[in-house]
Amino acid sequence: MRTETPTMIRLEDYRPSDYLIDRVELDVRLHSRETRITATLAMRPNPVGRAGAPLVLDGEDLTLVSLALDGQPLCPDAYGLNATSLTLPNPPSESFTLRIETQVNPTANTRLMGLYRSNGVYCTQCEADGFRRITYFLDRPDVMAVYTTRIEADLDEAPVLLGNGNPADSGPAGDGRHYAIWHDPHPKPAYLFALVGGRLDRVSGSFTTMEGRTVDLGIYVEPGQAARAEYALDAVIRSMAWDEQAFGRAYDLDVFNVVAVSDFNMGAMENKGLNIFNDKFVLASPETATDADYANIEAIIAHEYFHNWSGNRVTCRDWFQLCLKEGLTVFRDQEFSSDTRSRAVHRISEVRTLRARQFPEDAGPLAHPVRPNQYAEINNFYTATVYEKGAEIVRMLRTLIGGQAFRTGMDRYFATCDGTAATVEDFLAAFEAVTSRDLSAFARWYERPGTPTVSITGDYDPEAKTYRINFRQSLPGTEGPPLVIPVVLGLVGPEGAMDEARAERAPGGVFALEQETDTLTFSNVAAAPVPSLFRGFSAPVRVAFEATDAQHLLLLRHDTDPFNRWQAAQSVGMRLVIRWAGSDSPEAAEADALVEALGAFLDAEALRDPAFAALILSLPSEGDIANEIGIGSAVDPDAIRMARETLRRRIGERLSDRLAQLRGDLADRPGTPFSPDAASAGRRALRNAALDLIAVADPIAGVDLAGEQIATATNMTDRLAGLGVLALIAGPQREAALKDFAERFRSEPLVLDKWFAIQATIPESGTLERIAALRQHPTFSNTNPNRVRALIGSFSSGNPTQFNRADGAGYALVTDAVLALDQSNPQLAARLLTAFGSWRMLEPNRRSVAHKALDRIRSQTELSRDVSDIVTRTLA
Ligand code: PHE
Ligand code: ZN
Repeated sequence: MRTETPTMIRLEDYRPSDYLIDRVELDVRLHSRETRITATLAMRPNPVGRAGAPLVLDGEDLTLVSLALDGQPLCPDAYGLNATSLTLPNPPSESFTLRIETQVNPTANTRLMGLYRSNGVYCTQCEADGFRRITYFLDRPDVMAVYTTRIEADLDEAPVLLGNGNPADSGPAGDGRHYAIWHDPHPKPAYLFALVGGRLDRVSGSFTTMEGRTVDLGIYVEPGQAARAEYALDAVIRSMAWDEQAFGRAYDLDVFNVVAVSDFNMGAMENKGLNIFNDKFVLASPETATDADYANIEAIIAHEYFHNWSGNRVTCRDWFQLCLKEGLTVFRDQEFSSDTRSRAVHRISEVRTLRARQFPEDAGPLAHPVRPNQYAEINNFYTATVYEKGAEIVRMLRTLIGGQAFRTGMDRYFATCDGTAATVEDFLAAFEAVTSRDLSAFARWYERPGTPTVSITGDYDPEAKTYRINFRQSLPGTEGPPLVIPVVLGLVGPEGAMDEARAERAPGGVFALEQETDTLTFSNVAAAPVPSLFRGFSAPVRVAFEATDAQHLLLLRHDTDPFNRWQAAQSVGMRLVIRWAGSDSPEAAEADALVEALGAFLDAEALRDPAFAALILSLPSEGDIANEIGIGSAVDPDAIRMARETLRRRIGERLSDRLAQLRGDLADRPGTPFSPDAASAGRRALRNAALDLIAVADPIAGVDLAGEQIATATNMTDRLAGLGVLALIAGPQREAALKDFAERFRSEPLVLDKWFAIQATIPESGTLERIAALRQHPTFSNTNPNRVRALIGSFSSGNPTQFNRADGAGYALVTDAVLALDQSNPQLAARLLTAFGSWRMLEPNRRSVAHKALDRIRSQTELSRDVSDIVTRTLA
């Protein structure tokens, strides 16, 4: 724990390491409290480093047992040792070998960084800087080495021993112990190191690569859970095939293992050949996992697998380049999911995530460029901006240069950067080389924080039959030249798409907005059109275009771009709710044009594409609305909720017959086996969206229908949807249903997380007491990040009215939780605290209450660097 002013690490200060490590031999003797690690490092001065510089190795929470240089033990006065480093003042000027013996206590490791135990299973987490908690090392991604790891453990305690790379040897080690040796031929940075030891069941598979390599696949899970790993295994196989076909990337080892652990700070980790997962993103059965869980498992399995090329074979020079692997890999997993499921539906869900998580970040005090230029704590930069906006930049690049050039550029990037630690500049250079384009203006996307606004006006000239679109881009708060913004667009007339209209400067319907203002002219426009702008959400911007409801609804009906059809319904809903939120007497009938359009849409298309229809019925979330209002105004979460509920109720009332009919039409025939595929999931999604709207309009009917759905549910999606509806309707049925659920799933931790989460998001004042009671529940634990996120994270991110209570009790609940966690798991504590990232948008009273809560945290004497960094930036 430290509270001194954190040192800022700056991109401009980057310099190569003075020393390199070519080979690492690790000997790890696992014991629950006294694990010994002997590291033998083959080192040499870096030809581009400073000759004769001291050798400074990183280390944290380590006990140094012995140290030897070229076989000679070093006595303590030959080196310097402090809490964060081990320094050799005069290392040899030629190659040398350092042998370091350290001891660590995996059982006491509650930060879940380095070597720790999760439910008795030994595992490691080294990204970003956890390897230094295993041994002293040059713990930076541009130091890449070939690793050989010998792992030894009690046969009884840890019959399974896994490492990076390929298995080399194994056998008994005497005294009830055994060992395994793993060798990874691919040089890698320390953050990709991993080992696992424990009692685990295995599901096996096999994949033959396009290069003819047969790869043994293993998914390791806690005993008894193997059946729930089948879906993840299948997702691995499909990911491997997809990366070959879509990007020409084949796997490069003889084994690929995935291990599911229950205590994990993040989603999953791409360690070379040995991915380690939060079990929530591996384990699934129809009874325990929702359709959303299945989709997440598929996406995250793909994401970690794709890192093998975008992250591992080509890694990052330094942590400022994090988006080089994360943005690109998110883009790749999104493309995989789009190809696997429905592209339109997936695109909409990507944008919903971006708007829910990245837009607020970019509009608040925690905003930072996709490539940050400084940080105090790197673990706080695994953000929606780096990941999600990072992916949007890659997508914009593809839109601008076209799919074929993009693929050629990717091939070139992999070919030229393979085996290196690269930068964003290296990435862009590959595309410059294959397109002969100058991407320096495009590169500004990596440097400029904030969400740009593109303001648009249009005018139609009936004489000339032209339509002019005037663009203006702005990004307040940061100075600098304009961005390069791809605008995918087209015109829509009363009869539908106006394909005969032409704009020379928008070949293939893509216009590149490169100036602050510009005008695009369409010719051959037979009648006054409605422009369909930013099709497919072609750039992560806000669009300011004054369209009437009727014009939006024309797009909903006629646009050929499914994303913009969805956006049109969102826009009309957004405008209504914002108007109502600012008025004392909302006039529900104002919604009827939208309601009618939704009804017509359902009649025509609901059964054809239920997943899409479910999205069309979804309104902008309370958070989306707050963000929209928040620009320049004062957010009152209660007013937003009230207005939004008014709209939901109106839709439910007016469409109740159709919705009830849909539920019937979409019902599974009895005996239909569960399938998690996108089409089946889409039917469930629409059925449940219908139930939800019926219930807001008629809570008494809602209670019955939801109760019946729960009673007959054969899968978790329907069961949880029923419970979600009941959770919003106070009464004995709700309490009984919650009790039954807890009873039924009392030995299913991942399902209990859902039970905690659903209660934390009840938008009623009693929720605070409920949460206080749940924190005392025997199954609540501060040491399991999933459980903490289920209760506290769901409350702060999914319950805007109660988190933002005017009396400050919601803020107090979260800050208490943050402080209670800070000593044991600062990374998790810091992440919970980011819930305050939008506090400046609130109306003055709530803003001042939030400010006080943040001040209370700041005034603590013993804060971790993680939390202190977030609180300082949030208040700045
Ligand atoms: N690199 C991981 C991923 O995106 C995320 C992660 C970061 C996991 C840090 C653990 C620690 O796939
Ligand atoms: Zn990743």
